[in-house]
Amino acid sequence: MFQAAAKAQSVASTLSQAVLLSIRHYCKKTPTKLRVSEALLGAEWGAHVKIQGWVRSIRHQKVNLFLHVNDGSSLQSLQIVAASHLNDPLLTFGSAVEVTGVLKESPHRKQPVELEADEIHVIGECNPVDFPFKIKERHSLEYIRQLPHLRCRTNAFSSLLRVRSEATTAIHSYFKENGFVQIHTPIITSNDCEGAGELFQVVPSHPENEEDENFFSVPAFLTVSGQLHLEVMSGAFTRVYTFGPTFRAENSQSRRHLAEFFMVEAEISFTQCLEDLTRVMEDMFRSATEQVMAHCAEDVDLFHKHVTPGHRSIFRVTYSEAIDILNRSSQKFAFPTNWGCDLQTEHEKYLVKHCGNIPVFVTDYPYDLKPFYARDNQDSPEHTAAAVDLLVPGVGELCGGSLREERLDLLRARYLELRHFGSVPHGGFGLGFERYLQCILGVDNIKDVIPFPRFSHSCLL
Ligand code: 4AD
Repeated sequence: MFQAAAKAQSVASTLSQAVLLSIRHYCKKTPTKLRVSEALLGAEWGAHVKIQGWVRSIRHQKVNLFLHVNDGSSLQSLQIVAASHLNDPLLTFGSAVEVTGVLKESPHRKQPVELEADEIHVIGECNPVDFPFKIKERHSLEYIRQLPHLRCRTNAFSSLLRVRSEATTAIHSYFKENGFVQIHTPIITSNDCEGAGELFQVVPSHPENEEDENFFSVPAFLTVSGQLHLEVMSGAFTRVYTFGPTFRAENSQSRRHLAEFFMVEAEISFTQCLEDLTRVMEDMFRSATEQVMAHCAEDVDLFHKHVTPGHRSIFRVTYSEAIDILNRSSQKFAFPTNWGCDLQTEHEKYLVKHCGNIPVFVTDYPYDLKPFYARDNQDSPEHTAAAVDLLVPGVGELCGGSLREERLDLLRARYLELRHFGSVPHGGFGLGFERYLQCILGVDNIKDVIPFPRFSHSCLL
């Protein structure tokens, strides 16, 4: 009896030792999963790690095989060195792989670290003949635009999307740090923001009868701007903003218009002059750009053509001064430049160039050029409104804003109710997020700065 118990105890202890040993063995063997960006930091030399990503280059030598693997976490790929017996016919440019091995200091000056592989698994095959990207070839933005399901695998577009993500965070941080409350303004609305743009109407896809076509009791549209909803909220929170998708049904094939784009809009109560708005526009622009530069320097460098305007001051001219500048120019413009005419892209481009290729605020537009909610500059000799546009190099208009007309006697029917109860002087602006990215990266076509562009007569993915 005693012997049997002792035997059982010894078996149990041997078993538990075996379990412990295998756990230890497993722990030792289980590699740490790292992102390529983490591996490249060089802090994990000697560590046994696992990397997952897509093959960006492949080179066979007598004894060794060299791969570059990218997982979207950085512009740089990680170099993998493997003995040639680890080669696999399925290991091709574009295939998805999982590599385990030991991180080592690299003998090459260009990369601090490389992965000496002990295992390579092909997780997703990629036939290089059919794959539309070819190894070592530079593909133009126009070419990759035709491949919306694959363009995120290119260096240019993945850099761009990392910058886009960082800029989004930076804009939210700016508003948070400056006491703004974020408002999720509606996407479906009956409001057209006083003709900010052409509308897309929203109707059920299968109305059972004619009445059902008006799902809401009034016609409904995709939002062209959250301004009106922000104006409501600024009447309680003082400083509010929204950052979301916006829709315009203009049939425009231009390099700076989309049917669906992202807009940053802010509304501020107790404003006294346009400076109260332009200060916020400038600070937001500068602080977002600085954060992008600090966190995505490599990605920005890939694009950089312009000197990043975030670091320079912004020039200011009134609309009347802008018209003088245009009229004194020797350049022949296609559109008229008389006082009262709207500024066209050719005028905006000229003004930015004239001011030294830096961003320019144009203020105090003719009253008739701006929507009726823009505040009347009643004491100005010419009839102007307290409205401002920010023009930037390479793009033209990036932001539009104004003080809002809060004086009841000067307002017409639509806004009356809103201005009745505790109305205060206020103003706001909207910034086209894609145009901001075009501006800081020097990208010519707006379709190249949005993950899946929507524009008239395009196919949707
Ligand atoms: O000048 P917009 O139309 O202003 C408004 O909608 C105001 N309600 C904003 C406000 O005061 N809260 O649009 C603002 C910005 C433009 O300066 C431009 O950068 C961008 O939005 N934008 C477009 N971006 C891409 N595609 C389009 N179709 C755009 N239309 C305007």
